[in-house]
Amino acid sequence: MTGAAATTRDLRDASIPAIRASFRQLSDFFLLAEGGYEPVSRFLGSRETASVCRTMHLTTGEPWSMPIVFPVDDSTRERVARADFVEVWDEEGPAGVLHVEEVFEIDKQTFADCIFRTGDSAHPGISWLRTCGRYALAGPIEACRGWKLSVPGTLPISPRETARMIRNRGWRKVVGFQTRNPIHRAHEYCTKIALETADGLVIHPVLGETKGDDTPVQVRLACYETLLRNYYPAQHAMLAGFPGWMRYAGPREAVFHAQVRRNYGITHFIVGRDHAGLGDYYGPFDAQRIFSDFLPGELGVETVFFDFVHYCERCGCMASKKTCPHGPEHHLHLAGRALRRMLAEGRVPPPEYTRPEVARILVEAARGTA
Ligand code: ADX
Repeated sequence: MTGAAATTRDLRDASIPAIRASFRQLSDFFLLAEGGYEPVSRFLGSRETASVCRTMHLTTGEPWSMPIVFPVDDSTRERVARADFVEVWDEEGPAGVLHVEEVFEIDKQTFADCIFRTGDSAHPGISWLRTCGRYALAGPIEACRGWKLSVPGTLPISPRETARMIRNRGWRKVVGFQTRNPIHRAHEYCTKIALETADGLVIHPVLGETKGDDTPVQVRLACYETLLRNYYPAQHAMLAGFPGWMRYAGPREAVFHAQVRRNYGITHFIVGRDHAGLGDYYGPFDAQRIFSDFLPGELGVETVFFDFVHYCERCGCMASKKTCPHGPEHHLHLAGRALRRMLAEGRVPPPEYTRPEVARILVEAARGTA
């Protein structure tokens, strides 16, 4: 990028307008800057956004399922109307610059129809879309040298750094597991079944924003660390962070998650039941079905699909309907709401649902917030 503004945090050009960015904008900025969104390397313009919404491909023909946009409100749009560059700020100063090649009005109807498949404002993705600003700035970006997105914890979050760590371990077949929840037995089962045929596993939790009633990230981090320490072999499993934010876009987000994880060095991505979904906005296996809209090999990452996994008291282990012949009366499954109620009442989730070390953390956290 030529003629850009300062690339260090303390050197700024007062003639360039500054925008105090939200976490979501900064998260996308960071992932663009670090190669996490390859083949996307810039905030998308109107043609690219329309193409991604309608075809799940960029205008170049490369697959991509999630519009990466930099929304602004009316007053910011007026302020930056004639600027070639804007500085993107976090709460401490400039994170970098965005070279504004286009300012456009976001087609929110198409965005909602194609990406979220709903217009219901109770859907967190729709409520973001309604409030994020009417316009978007598009163009390439450049991050300040040394700038890093601030997220809770100390896990590696950069795609390049994580891919390097994986290479250094000598793993070739690498399973990736996205999660926004504490890892329960069903998650553990999926990851371990997949790991049985791979060299390594990356547990890759979302560290960015999730909806209000999801378990807070600090609590989840404690759960992941405990679980890895006690139940996964260090030479075949690692924990790294995904600094993205949840859109809850179900199928569209599953493809996005898979492609982004490829950029983190993952070769095989797990998609289970209702991946990145909530309520009944999406069918339980829509997020698997959508992958058949792509040609074999097109996404550059393989998928590992799982049916609905539960504990079966007759089998005495985790299973799915592929591996267990018994009826639902023998199955234990706790939906998110039931688990939250159990924790709020101070009851300990059973070991068939979650490991005791994890249950302890969840109960203590619930006590702390009660
Ligand atoms: S998500 O929003 O990140 O998808 P969650 O952390 O609950 O939510 O799920 C992580 C992954 O595990 C997703 O691929 C999801 O489909 C899968 N998964 C969660 N629970 C189950 C289950 N009981 N059976 C099969 N897959 C599951």
